[in-house]
Amino acid sequence: MPNAIITGWGKCVPPAVLTNSDLETLTDTSDEWITTRTGIKERRISHVENSDMSAVAAQHALAAAGLEPTDIDLIIMATCTPDRMLPSAGTMVQAKIGAAKAAAMDLNAACSGFLFALSTADQMIRAGSMRRVLVIGTEKLSYWLDFTNRATSVLFGDGAGAVVIEASDEAGGLLAFELGSDGTAGDLLCAPGTGTEGSPLDIQAPSILMEGPDVFRRAVVAMGDSSARVIEKAGLSLEDIDLLIPHQANVRIIDATARRLGLDPAQVYVNIASYGNTSSATIPIAITEALEEGRIRPGSTLVFAAFGGGFTWAAAVYRWGSRTAPLGISGAALPPTEATALELLQPNVAVHGKGV
Ligand code: UT7
Repeated sequence: MPNAIITGWGKCVPPAVLTNSDLETLTDTSDEWITTRTGIKERRISHVENSDMSAVAAQHALAAAGLEPTDIDLIIMATCTPDRMLPSAGTMVQAKIGAAKAAAMDLNAACSGFLFALSTADQMIRAGSMRRVLVIGTEKLSYWLDFTNRATSVLFGDGAGAVVIEASDEAGGLLAFELGSDGTAGDLLCAPGTGTEGSPLDIQAPSILMEGPDVFRRAVVAMGDSSARVIEKAGLSLEDIDLLIPHQANVRIIDATARRLGLDPAQVYVNIASYGNTSSATIPIAITEALEEGRIRPGSTLVFAAFGGGFTWAAAVYRWGSRTAPLGISGAALPPTEATALELLQPNVAVHGKGV
């Protein structure tokens, strides 16, 4: 049975920055509250579509792997904010990057989507049915922001991350993973107006609703306990873990998860201050930045953990391969824009109003 190794990685974060001070002009909040309650200082607002960010991240991941788009057998696109429900985001990305030989599909497990997709890719490669899979996590959550709801509108941002995962004889890959869901609590974190419920006559502008403190508690328990279980399942102990790369929803959730596990804060990767919660994109963006910063080394043992709407949760132990430098660099980039984040959010204000 081959191993399944990450050989390429890349990200795409749109240029327009929305700061906490900007948010003070849109909703009843403060930089102080957002910083101390969440750890977020700023987030990105996209001037392009989900598939555009995905295509750029994918091209960087392909270059890092030294592959052409036509080398890819399968694209798994983890997202809950596709450009459209039809065609799928995966097929849109396939067309944009020219991955003509790939099958493409979407996978929605909200903030846990990237880990659901990564483990699906791992299993298909290890079963021998695929050799090279592009796994992408992308969200354009800014589309859903409703500034009359300060409890959610300060948390989310846009971005994309991608990895190439390949069949290999090299040691490493996913040593253990766990996926979980609890649909009975779905209403605690949901996005009305984003699907087909109700009548087309009652079209509702999309928004995100969340029972924050309840979600917070469940996220800490699920991410902490599932991480502990996958470490044990991999036959490892805490001392073997070099870095925890958790979903970035709230720095207090990350800290509490690390404490529950017994990990030192130095063993945890955190970049939430720059991007906020980008749902399925947080972990592949974090993997890419951790590599760029030298926090992942050849043979590093990583734990990934996520929790999100559904509810869904996932944890995995991943042993990095021998290469941490990209084989190639792509010049792929989004089209430039002069638009500010506040200008890009004017449609949200027009539909929902402001919260100040
Ligand atoms: O990615 C998927 C998973 N998502 C998560 O894991 C998010 C989980 N939840 C959280 O991160 C936190 O619960 C939040 C950041 C959403 C909220 O933080 P909290 O410490 O749980 O605050 P809270 O909801 O208990 O609210 C405390 C106070 C309330 O005021 P009162 O009733 O004490 O007067 C809120 O109205 O903070 C108020 N508040 C705000 N104040 C300023 C809520 N949102 C804001 C805001 N600015 N944006």
